[in-house]
Amino acid sequence: MEWKGAEKGSMDFKYLYINTMGCQMNVYDSEKIASVLRSSGYKMTSSLKIADLIVLNTCAIREKAEQKAYSFLGRLEDLKREKPDLIIGMGGCIAQQEGEKILRKMPYIDLVFGTHAIGRLPGHIEEIEKKGRRIVDIEMSESIQEIETAGGPENGVKPTCFVTIMQGCDNFCTYCVVPYVRGRETSRKPENIIQEIAEYVERGAREVTLLGQNVNSYGKKEGLFSFPKLLSLVNDIEKLLRIRFTTSHPKDLSDDLIRSFKNIEKLCNHLHLPVQSGSNRILERMNRKYTRQLYLEKIDKLRHFCPDIAITSDIIVGFPGETRKDFNDTLDLIKSVEYDSVYAFMYSDRPNALSSEFSDKVEDHEKKDRLKRILDIQSAITIKKNEALVGSDYPVLVEGLSNKQGGAGRQLQWKGRTSSNKIVNFHFNKNDLPEIKNCSGKIVTVRIETAFPHSLRGKPVGIEPSSLGSKGEESYAA
Ligand code: SAH
Ligand code: SF4
Ligand code: F3S
Repeated sequence: MEWKGAEKGSMDFKYLYINTMGCQMNVYDSEKIASVLRSSGYKMTSSLKIADLIVLNTCAIREKAEQKAYSFLGRLEDLKREKPDLIIGMGGCIAQQEGEKILRKMPYIDLVFGTHAIGRLPGHIEEIEKKGRRIVDIEMSESIQEIETAGGPENGVKPTCFVTIMQGCDNFCTYCVVPYVRGRETSRKPENIIQEIAEYVERGAREVTLLGQNVNSYGKKEGLFSFPKLLSLVNDIEKLLRIRFTTSHPKDLSDDLIRSFKNIEKLCNHLHLPVQSGSNRILERMNRKYTRQLYLEKIDKLRHFCPDIAITSDIIVGFPGETRKDFNDTLDLIKSVEYDSVYAFMYSDRPNALSSEFSDKVEDHEKKDRLKRILDIQSAITIKKNEALVGSDYPVLVEGLSNKQGGAGRQLQWKGRTSSNKIVNFHFNKNDLPEIKNCSGKIVTVRIETAFPHSLRGKPVGIEPSSLGSKGEESYAA
């Protein structure tokens, strides 16, 4: 979110500005933050200037993420000087990690709250407003907090929504900070999850992404039922059209879950299955608990049950001790799997993570070189895969207007995704289908005409009737 034109102030409420960094879990948490603070009289704004309360929801996964957070906070110092009543809060994973130290380092910050403290925010804000105290709350609880959403989002729900189904992680991959900043793995009760999704669907959501660091172990600790069973319950929610989830750990990807891609009607045909490395030696040092062979077997099984499944991955380059040979094993794996896309990261040391103690660190220039080689190879695979879609029709769930709109008088440009999670842009031409005035949340069949490295473009050729709803026909333009 950046500076936008000032909005009109009011005596009845105060303005809240939230900047969200990091993963989808933080996006979900930020919505909860907005929701609990609404009951304290705060209304969202996209203008830093008029904000009475600024919250930064941080990510600690890599060094770069941390630098980004501190650079944003640094810019707020002047703002606080100009406006001493401004409250500045830092939440999320860096807040959890650093706690008290933040207040010492940055005297203009009023509140540091960790990943388990969102439900307690209204009390903290009241303390700060009334008594001017500075507060740190990084307490972690074993049980999951069910946060009441006070009245729901202000402007309705978007066609796609995220719902966290479990918090924390017990895997302790040696490079990763998540188990320390998110705590132990704990699953939410299925009835609460279903109720929350049903509420979003009632308010307009058509797709849900279920979030957890390792969704395949959902419910295991608590003796609840399995993740595939949860998927089938979500599948029964009326008016919900699509289900996604992230992330599944390869070691726990069960045959049952693999079969879900065939059996669960609304489950999209995309799986994010981070491999991290193609070298068994490195996988072991990472404490990933699977081998390259096991990973490849799972990929084969997935493609057997769901031949057109799109598979994406995360890769870390330059993990301590990664030799050229180890790296070549990763390149070789990427070529043989032919991912739809990969997110590749240069390894960085993290506080508490075991690998930060490993001695044989890889030089920065070598990491950069390896990252570039991965990206070059993957770009060629991605574009080849995207080009193979040209000429075919795909149902696209429209998420809203595309960021790039044509000039005056031009048709509206819409943006959505295929079930395989590819971004598709399109617009209605005079001689094509009758135009739908508001496409958001509808499934439009698009004939792909052009493939780009990160998206596709096509023309609309049909509308999925089930996505129109009872008053659907009325939304056709005359
Ligand atoms: N729970 C997910 C990953 C969450 S973190 C899973 O197990 O797959 C997202 C990605 O960040 C990881 O998959 C990994 O590729 C990357 N990552 C995590 N720690 C890192 C570190 N110290 N340096 C570089 N990349 C890292
Ligand atoms: Fe981190 Fe590993 Fe847990 Fe993923 S599974 S969050 S990479 S510790
Ligand atoms: Fe970052 Fe925390 Fe997510 S460290 S990746 S915001 S769980």
